[in-house]
Amino acid sequence: MNDTILEVHDLQFKRGNREILNIERFSLQEGETIALIGPNGAGKSTFLQVMALLLKPTRGTVAFRGVPVTSRNALAIRRRMAVVFQEPLLLNTTVYDNVATGLKLRGVPREEIKKRVGRWLELLDIAHLAGRRSHQLSGGEAQRVSLARAFALEPDVLFLDEPFSALDFPTRLSLLNELDRLLKETGITAVFVTHDFSEVPYLTDRVAVLKNGRLVKTGTFEEIFKVKPRRENYITSLYRVFESDAAG
Ligand SMILES: Nc1ncnc2c1ncn2[C@@H]1O[C@H](COP(=O)(O)OP(=O)(O)O)[C@@H](O)[C@H]1O
Ligand SMILES: [Mg+2]
Repeated sequence: MNDTILEVHDLQFKRGNREILNIERFSLQEGETIALIGPNGAGKSTFLQVMALLLKPTRGTVAFRGVPVTSRNALAIRRRMAVVFQEPLLLNTTVYDNVATGLKLRGVPREEIKKRVGRWLELLDIAHLAGRRSHQLSGGEAQRVSLARAFALEPDVLFLDEPFSALDFPTRLSLLNELDRLLKETGITAVFVTHDFSEVPYLTDRVAVLKNGRLVKTGTFEEIFKVKPRRENYITSLYRVFESDAAG
């Protein structure tokens, strides 16, 4: 449980002359979920993309299970990772094919693809949408598809970049709860980026704070915010009342 799965060291990322990231050291432990928080423009998305090997750092190293990433091994390591973005970025095809495509590209056998897609559509409660085309989905449904697509890859590390920020409050709440359950059940290591720290207590107690491209604090929720982490039970119960009223 306490093995390092991903580590960055002496990392710098520049756009032109502008330094966007400067991170001395950061590591992810096998099986943990960490929340990466910070104001808009802090560099969260850039940092996530560097760790997910979608952007190459200007300087410094990213190491996966102790092996430094190079241009030779990057693709193989990249295939151990999955990313969920704020915009679901679905292909213009069915829900089923959206989840299956990544598996096909990775050469997963046909029977296994069917099994895995079926399983993850069930787990995300979208099995009934399998034949629906992506443009006919609500925001919450589309984000469920992109979660199913990511989990179906059975990645070692899952990166989530403000995945629920564009969703309405009740949808966001149920997806936070479901994501929490799925991460616990699968034991997948996860980095959850958000600018909204009220989301953090649903998923984890470990927080890293990024400001102006620098990691300014890492610690438990309470160490960082000086208040106990609290899921918004009060608000949740208000919504439950609303839902049962609406149903009745
Ligand atoms: N494609 C880009 N081209 C130029 N500047 C960018 C680009 N993407 C991000 N930036 C800049 O890099 C900084 C960090 O951005 P970003 O990583 O998106 O922050 P966050 O996700 O925390 O809001 C910001 O100042 C942003 O304007
Ligand atoms: Mg961002």
